[in-house]
Amino acid sequence: MHLQLDGRGPLHAQLTRALKTAVFAGRVHQGARLPATRQLARELGISRNTVLAAYEQLRAEGFVDGRVGSGSYVTPPLQALRSVRAVDAPLAPQSEFARRGRLYHDHLRIPGRRIEGVRYSFQYGVPITNPALTSAWARELAHAAAYTAPNYPMTQGLPALREAVCDYLARRRGVQAQPEDVVIVDGTQQAVSLAARVLLDAGDTAVLEEPHYSSIREALQIHGARLHTVGVDQEGLLCESLPEQGAKLVCVTPSHQFPSGVVMSLARRLELLDYAHRHGSWILEDDYDGEFRYDAQPLAALRSLDEYGRVIYVGTFSKVMFPSLRLGYVVVPAGLRGDFVNAKWQDDFGSPGIEQAALARFMVEGGFERHLRRTWKTLKERRSALLDGLNRCSAGRLEISDSHAGMHLVVWLKDRSRAEGEAFIARARSLGLGLYPIAPYYLDPPDRAGLLLGYCALSVAEIVDAVERFAACLDEF
Ligand SMILES: Cc1ncc(COP(=O)(O)O)c(C=O)c1O
Repeated sequence: MHLQLDGRGPLHAQLTRALKTAVFAGRVHQGARLPATRQLARELGISRNTVLAAYEQLRAEGFVDGRVGSGSYVTPPLQALRSVRAVDAPLAPQSEFARRGRLYHDHLRIPGRRIEGVRYSFQYGVPITNPALTSAWARELAHAAAYTAPNYPMTQGLPALREAVCDYLARRRGVQAQPEDVVIVDGTQQAVSLAARVLLDAGDTAVLEEPHYSSIREALQIHGARLHTVGVDQEGLLCESLPEQGAKLVCVTPSHQFPSGVVMSLARRLELLDYAHRHGSWILEDDYDGEFRYDAQPLAALRSLDEYGRVIYVGTFSKVMFPSLRLGYVVVPAGLRGDFVNAKWQDDFGSPGIEQAALARFMVEGGFERHLRRTWKTLKERRSALLDGLNRCSAGRLEISDSHAGMHLVVWLKDRSRAEGEAFIARARSLGLGLYPIAPYYLDPPDRAGLLLGYCALSVAEIVDAVERFAACLDEF
């Protein structure tokens, strides 16, 4: 029997793969007897134990039948297996969810996808690199790995982390919550997905700010929501444009509107809460970076004004720590809590226990606060460098919407169309500068050239150099 071993990994695994390939290729037929182990070992110049191990593996996977000593026979319905192998072509979506997924989520066009091969990239959503955090986190993880029980964590989240989150929310975000109100999730994205499943049926209306965070839009679309966008002015959401017949869910970023940076005024906050109360709507407050405010104390969250119990407050550790952590939290109104925990259970039984334990200790022991103070200072310096540079090179050609908070700025090229903006981005790229359009953050983008500049991953010196390239590009334009 001719068998080609591929040289990857242990010999018995190579032989198992080679035999399967022979089966798939039809070189060994259904019902055929495999060579005796001694004979095959001799032919291949390998030990009989290796052949025995490979046959045993094939038996365990159901490829062959029979017992050692009485011969091994190929069993599977080969025709079916071969045809499964042959079909690599895309299939029609197998469910409504899959169909909507293909329609609304295009992995190749994710906004903000990194522009490769440039010297400086103003990419939004990347973490601030911070060696002090890396070593502190490594210590916490090692400790948590040694002391955390290896059984499934509580679905709702580790009590110690929920307590630490409540303490943090009370001190920094003005939100009064008890640990039982909190569900620990794998970031904002999971929180939105849980909310969509718990609150929406296909066809229900969900309101989004325009512009908005596109990943929330996709999550709602994939769950079959009917979207209604509402514009934003200098006071935040234009509440007068909320649908008169009511909306099931209204998603907002009141502390720092994404991406425009506007802070929702008190009057609008009260108007929105009143709307939710009158229509029985739920408000999803995405408080993704409200912590980092540079001109004043961080504003209290909308949830802190909610007397009707309509606000589902979502926080994430993606900005204040780093996004690969995949941890966040939801403060859920009591009447919805069971449904959120059920949905979370169906997703993953609970977020990873070791990371939760490490984070709880990091927060309780003060490392988290120290990290926040350091990060706040670093971000403030980077933001000032970027703002100074842009203001210097603007000469009336730029409109900078500065929001005194967060990790990004929005810059408009005055009197330029969206197509001209794309040309500007292409030119910047040829000068080694990665710039990103704002258009993907609209359902219906305006015909203006807008950029979303994330400055978190560049040092002050890099920002200064990058802005020089930006200015050169602007002068040429
Ligand atoms: C508006 C907004 N909300 C939330 C997030 C964080 O999402 P997650 O917690 O899923 O990482 C981001 C990240 O870029 C964001 O821009």
